[in-house]
Amino acid sequence: MADFAFTGPEPDLADLLAARPAFAMHAQDGLCFEDVPLNAIADQYGTPVWVYGAGSMQARYAALQAAFKAQNLDVHIHYAVKANDHIAILDIFRQLGAGADVVSLGELLRARRAGIAAKDVVYSGVGKAEAEIEAALAQGIGQFNVESTEELDMLSALATRTGTTAKVVLRMNPDVDAGTHAKITTGLAENKFGIAAADIPALYARATALPGIAMRGLALHIGSQILSPEPYATAYAKAAAMVRLLRAQGMTVTVLDLGGGIGIGYHDEPGMNLAAFAAVVKREVGGLGVDLLMEPGRYLVGPAGLLLASVVLQKQAAKRFVVLDAAMNELMRPALYEAWHGILPVNAALFHGIASPADIVGPVCESADCFAKDRELPDLGPGERVALLDAGAYGAVMSSSYNARPRAASVLVSDGQFRLITPRQRLEDLWADEVLP
Ligand code: LLP
Repeated sequence: MADFAFTGPEPDLADLLAARPAFAMHAQDGLCFEDVPLNAIADQYGTPVWVYGAGSMQARYAALQAAFKAQNLDVHIHYAVKANDHIAILDIFRQLGAGADVVSLGELLRARRAGIAAKDVVYSGVGKAEAEIEAALAQGIGQFNVESTEELDMLSALATRTGTTAKVVLRMNPDVDAGTHAKITTGLAENKFGIAAADIPALYARATALPGIAMRGLALHIGSQILSPEPYATAYAKAAAMVRLLRAQGMTVTVLDLGGGIGIGYHDEPGMNLAAFAAVVKREVGGLGVDLLMEPGRYLVGPAGLLLASVVLQKQAAKRFVVLDAAMNELMRPALYEAWHGILPVNAALFHGIASPADIVGPVCESADCFAKDRELPDLGPGERVALLDAGAYGAVMSSSYNARPRAASVLVSDGQFRLITPRQRLEDLWADEVLP
């Protein structure tokens, strides 16, 4: 099975830059993102700092919409909040017309806080708690993606008790290998997600008769960081067959939720070919006469964010170690999935300097606290800054304060300006809620 570990030749700094049009290297200002010098952000707010680009998110959203439009498809986009749940980012997608895909009450309330209407929210997840379901019903949430017969019964009971009706799709597990990392694949029978196809017809029929439940259709989500349309084609063909079967049995099916998972290019592999993906959607489910929706996260925000860090020191031991002020507690993906993230120096002079292999690490007391092994980078003395690329998705949301490290600040770049959207956590806030017995 493919994973995030990069095995091909490493892209060099110029390749990384060339593949990312939102970045530019200026002789004086150094590395710029959406026309803002990263040095200006670091000078004002310090490092480590997350930097997000509104223009990149808008452009990516537009590209996805355009791919669907070219196929004459109307697919409503529900941004997967888990990828990056900052309300400033949710607000950007709300302005673009997106709904939200949430997996907890916290995410639902974040979406609501950003002004996304409850009716435009779908609620996924294998373990929705009673209190969360009740709150979602009270808010008038648009759709529950139900993942088990047990959850369906619980939902029916709660909706009946509160005098509400839950709009429901069943999440079908299509048993398709998405060809992605084992820790983020979700569409195999062995995964905890969804309902086996064989069980769908009987459950759908039973659900239709349950009080408090309004059956709408099906959902599926086969995994994340998927780079080829092929697994989607297989999964969507199975979904289409299921829609036809359900209808043949007299069921009403009006919604198909296509899930998320569209992959991006972290090194020099091409990201998902959107035109080919949209063509697959058109071919497999375009003629079903259902409302189509999709739950992308990473595709929309991954390349639209970076983690800006400073070098604490460069240590020459058995090999060269560049120790940053950012660590695995900020960006966990390399430690958790051996994920590869591009690293660019901010200083233009260094960009053209002689490169040699170095391990890029953080100060946390774990060997897993390593962003890159044997990466070809120039000499990076104390105070030099680097950008860890493509960190907009599953970066800040997965961070922690391990080693009593305060949460990094976040900055949003928009129209050539930058603004602080989360201040750096103060040290004393780390223990502010703790109580001495
Ligand atoms: N819908 C459902 C039901 C999901 O479980 C997910 C992601 C998405 C949508 C959005 O998937 P996306 O378009 O972002 O691929 N932490 C991992 C990724 C975990 C994805 C979990 N589910 C990483 O850093 O790669």
